[in-house]
Amino acid sequence: MSVNSQQYIIEELKKRWPSVSPEIIETAMEVPKDRKLGDLAFPCFRLAKELRKAPPLIAQELAAQLGTDEVIEKAQAVGPYVNMFVNKTWLASYVLGQIEKTSAEGRVYGSSLEGEGKTIVLDYSSINVAKPFHIGHLRTTVIGNSISRILKFMGYKTVSINYLGDWGTQFGKMLVAYRKWGEEEKVQKDGIRYLVSLYVRFHDEADKDPSLNDEARAAFTAMEHGDEESLALWRRFVDISLKDVSRVYELLDVHFDSYKGEGYFWDKTDKPISILKEKGLLKDSEGAKIVDLSEEGMPPCLILKKDGSTLYATRDLAAVMYRKETYDFDKCLYITGLEQKLHFAQWFKVIEKMGLPWAKDLIHIPYGLISLEDGKLSTRGGNVIWLEDLLKEAIAKTKAIMEEKNPDLENMDEVATQVGVGAVVFHDLFNNRIKDVTFKFDEVLNFDGETGPYVQYTYARARSVLRKAEAQYGWSKGNLDQISCSVLTDEYSQELIKILESFPDKVADAKEKWEPYLITRYTVAVATAFNRFYHENPILMEEEEKRNARLYLTEITTEILRQGLYLIGVSAPEKM
Ligand code: ARG
Repeated sequence: MSVNSQQYIIEELKKRWPSVSPEIIETAMEVPKDRKLGDLAFPCFRLAKELRKAPPLIAQELAAQLGTDEVIEKAQAVGPYVNMFVNKTWLASYVLGQIEKTSAEGRVYGSSLEGEGKTIVLDYSSINVAKPFHIGHLRTTVIGNSISRILKFMGYKTVSINYLGDWGTQFGKMLVAYRKWGEEEKVQKDGIRYLVSLYVRFHDEADKDPSLNDEARAAFTAMEHGDEESLALWRRFVDISLKDVSRVYELLDVHFDSYKGEGYFWDKTDKPISILKEKGLLKDSEGAKIVDLSEEGMPPCLILKKDGSTLYATRDLAAVMYRKETYDFDKCLYITGLEQKLHFAQWFKVIEKMGLPWAKDLIHIPYGLISLEDGKLSTRGGNVIWLEDLLKEAIAKTKAIMEEKNPDLENMDEVATQVGVGAVVFHDLFNNRIKDVTFKFDEVLNFDGETGPYVQYTYARARSVLRKAEAQYGWSKGNLDQISCSVLTDEYSQELIKILESFPDKVADAKEKWEPYLITRYTVAVATAFNRFYHENPILMEEEEKRNARLYLTEITTEILRQGLYLIGVSAPEKM
């Protein structure tokens, strides 16, 4: 593990200030708000009692003990504080050295071994079969994908599960509709969209002829009794849906390890139910079976309907027991909209009451709503925005912008896809999860705002500088000992170096809070710092020593930017 420069200095101070307790040095150290006052500040209040001296006096003594050396350039007592200025050449060589050391160990800077030997199951995207894959599913998909990438980066083994919503009475309706009106060629041609239109038609017709609903119920019962013909048709619905959505997953570069969904678990609920019975937790309620949660201040969790069929929660109980057995997870994450909060709180509680000690490892990760600027989203109004359409529109709009900006770009289509899709993902992951998102194309695709295109463009520009340096001067990164870090002491280089240094902390923080946006914002910070650095410091026109140092820093910047973008599921185009 790399030790950041601040931790390094704290260790140094422990040696140089033997009169101060190491614990106080560690906990009291501050970074001054106004960086002109110093890079670090140590307040002496807490030492006053022990040392029986006034804090300003202690500050003076401690400052004097530091003097000047190659790490701490200057230490100054200001009132009760010791303000310290870190030597800039040391900082540059220390940070870049840590990054080089990491890659010499065969790792990527920012990654860690925290998760070694641990498995985390993630349940995300979890689409509903024969229902529109609409923009409401964008969030679970991109948040889950990002968290899974972050976890892998931290050494965890991950299992990504698309827990298909492929069971329930709506499939009885689908069977009836398909048998009555289904046309094979249309299925081939339009996939889920056609299935959805059949479902809509079913509802229209059932309004006129309610007996269709009885037929649908009977059809679903046949499925539950294992009728082969019904199940074969149901499986086709699942296959058609999966084939259709795979195009979207391909665009988003999202992949799953398992698609076992509700249809796999509906007949495997005996296990949780028998434990519930054994523990006396299953109560009768007007013919249905429930687990009472009134002591926990929640409505009861419904386990079996009057007719003995299972519910959403029952299937979740069966699925999680299977997951524990199969993957022996350390944590199991569920990424869904906030509106399912109660559902998860309820059945997590049921697992706890069942006496399963791993109940504490189940985590619901909720997020806020997404809507379009004109308010379109709902499934009911028929106003659905299919995710695939939205992504395609983003790609087309991006292509139009790029044809103006850079008409000669090779592989225009590939880049427009990376940038268009990247912009949508980036925007979705720009704020903390729980915040609602309003989708406005102008904002999402703005090349100058805090957007995906802006960060990608910065990346491409930095890469282009490196390519030019290679062509003009035969530049290649090589080792840090060939580089003069004393050249990287200007304000802009230093700012960039400090931001680059913080990458591992940002990754760890994003994992701790399950918040990809911390990384999204980080990539913006890197891009902005790089652009300032680049604006103030000519690279290709400079003499060799400066040029090489700046190229080295540019090289590190592109590596961290590319990795940061990868962690939020956004690609980094070489040219744009
Ligand atoms: N299919 C559900 C939906 O779209 C989400 C499923 C979430 N996962 C789970 N294990 N309940 O609303």
